[in-house]
Amino acid sequence: MFFPVLMMCSLLNAALPFDLGQSTRCVSIPPEMSVCHDVGYSEMRLPNFLGHTSLENEVIPKSEDWRPLLQTGCHPQARTFVCSLIAPVCLDTFIQPCRSMCVAVRDSCAPLLACQGQAWPEALDCERFPAEEDTCLSPVSKETAHFYKVMPKPTCQGCPAVEEAFAYKSVLDAFCQNDFAVKVKVTRRRFPSEEPEFEIEGRVEFISQGQLLPYDTHSLLQQWMLINESCGQRLTRIGRSLLYVLAGDVQADGTVSVKRIFQWHKRDTQLTLAVRKWRHHKC
Ligand SMILES: *[C@@H]1O[C@H](CO)[C@@H](O)[C@H](O)[C@H]1NC(C)=O
Repeated sequence: MFFPVLMMCSLLNAALPFDLGQSTRCVSIPPEMSVCHDVGYSEMRLPNFLGHTSLENEVIPKSEDWRPLLQTGCHPQARTFVCSLIAPVCLDTFIQPCRSMCVAVRDSCAPLLACQGQAWPEALDCERFPAEEDTCLSPVSKETAHFYKVMPKPTCQGCPAVEEAFAYKSVLDAFCQNDFAVKVKVTRRRFPSEEPEFEIEGRVEFISQGQLLPYDTHSLLQQWMLINESCGQRLTRIGRSLLYVLAGDVQADGTVSVKRIFQWHKRDTQLTLAVRKWRHHKC
């Protein structure tokens, strides 16, 4: 990611909304707690801001609860935010996320949690975090936030049915009616652990690029499969690679919705024909 990671302005003592008790200690972020491995520091404070004191019984197992959400990439600072609470950086003062960071992450991520049938956790009520931007972890700059806002991103949606039998003409019509069309290869991991269960393998091939960004589309579609799990389940088989053409739209606010899914069977001629004819096709 090219977003600036931690932006701490000053290390004044902030008033703490959490009851941390008297004694805290610093420990290494355990290897099992892989959701917080790339946060830019290696020592965390115990108890953490959620009041967990035991690494084995609380911190490590509960950190796994965050994995599905963090894997959707719902906000560039989601990991920083979550890890600043479950594995607070060990400095001589307590650094919490600012309320504005909490709000930014919540606004992006709560809809995806809702898609997975979960409410935004009460422990992360943004009102609990300090409002002063100079005693806490601040959100990314306004410019970055704006850039992020207008970038194409997936949203919670129902999954279109997979179409298996079609004539190339109807595929061309679908390309005309949608903003983008891409060819993807997907698979499902047999033992998902640190990696997401559903995966887009290799490069995404553009048939029509529309408003998608070339370098971002792989992760966008990967996230799309993870947001509503039934999309990933519908498209993938364990240990097998399947090919599809996905066609969809990018709305004015940057949200992407996939409208049509064509399965590309090995000896399929209609999709091959449609892709070939598309280059000279007039809608
Ligand atoms: C997820 O996709 C399924 C299948 O299309 C759909 O029935 C369900 O409503 C979707 N979930 C949400 C929250 O939109």
